[in-house]
Amino acid sequence: MITFYEKIEKPILALAPMAGYTNQPFRRICKFYGADVLYSEMASATALSYGGKKTLELLKFSKDERPYVVQLFGNDPKYFQNAARIVTEKIRPDGIDINMGCPAPKVYKTGAGAALFCDQGKAIAIIEETLKGTDLPVSIKIRSRVSKYTAYKFMKKIKDYPLAAVMVHGRSYEKAFSGSIDYITIKRIKEMVSYPVIANGGINTPEEAKMMLERTGADGVGIARGALKNPWLFLQIKEYLETGEYHEFDLKEIKTAALRHTEMAQDDMGAHGVLEMRKYLLWYFRGFENAKEFRRKLVEVESLEDVKRTLEMLEG
Ligand SMILES: Cc1cc2nc3c(=O)[nH]c(=O)nc-3n(C[C@H](O)[C@H](O)[C@H](O)COP(=O)(O)O)c2cc1C
Repeated sequence: MITFYEKIEKPILALAPMAGYTNQPFRRICKFYGADVLYSEMASATALSYGGKKTLELLKFSKDERPYVVQLFGNDPKYFQNAARIVTEKIRPDGIDINMGCPAPKVYKTGAGAALFCDQGKAIAIIEETLKGTDLPVSIKIRSRVSKYTAYKFMKKIKDYPLAAVMVHGRSYEKAFSGSIDYITIKRIKEMVSYPVIANGGINTPEEAKMMLERTGADGVGIARGALKNPWLFLQIKEYLETGEYHEFDLKEIKTAALRHTEMAQDDMGAHGVLEMRKYLLWYFRGFENAKEFRRKLVEVESLEDVKRTLEMLEG
């Protein structure tokens, strides 16, 4: 099947899923700044299967977010077919992804996320059930290794399944979110599978994106925390890959981006959206560690006007 992953011009620049962060306004600001594919926060297959309205509500998206991929997580194959069917019918995203890489204890200890590597029969059953529940492209997101279980061997087992893409976080479960990237594993997976491979982990600059692409031969990169620091990273990567240079955002442009994001949050989520912005605003102004009063005010904003006033405190 030719999927949207195949149709997008390479390299694919994807906003990787982040629970608590990749909500609708954050996805929209990343899209505005050049992200090619947007992943939702992970959603529980079990909750969806039981008709969880809140979970469904969290997955809604707008037309300007396409292609949009809903990520499911869970530990029991029996819920995935129904969850995939519900997402397909009620949300109508462009793809469904399965979380096989999350190390968070509350996910891992239930046997979901990265723990699926330790029960590969179950992992494969989850893929099969998801495929049965949808005609949308199905992808998976994995880690390079979980204890003795390697991504390469897992992918070898499933390479003939009709998956649309795989995003590989080049760190083991044990490394969690820091440490060196296993480029070789990603490269070997790319050489083995016929569908697009998206390389993920540690990309915070255009130079790191280029290095990841060169070392792995991947079809694209997935960016998580780098996009929290600067959602315009996608644009910078595109510019750098084309010209060898890229534009650094100055303070005025950072403020414009933060304000644009806040407006989107207000549009999508009303007053609650502005409250949600507090944590994102801290990311935008991470480099401004000395502006103590400014940062204190950022976490107290209650309205768009508050955000505007607070941003004016910083010169530039
Ligand atoms: C706050 C946070 C939440 C995350 N939530 C998810 C998630 O819901 N699903 C998932 O597959 N990965 C999740 N991840 C992992 C990221 O998608 C990504 O694989 C990881 O952060 C490495 O990429 P980075 O170095 O660009 O941040 C999360 C990471 C962070 C920091």
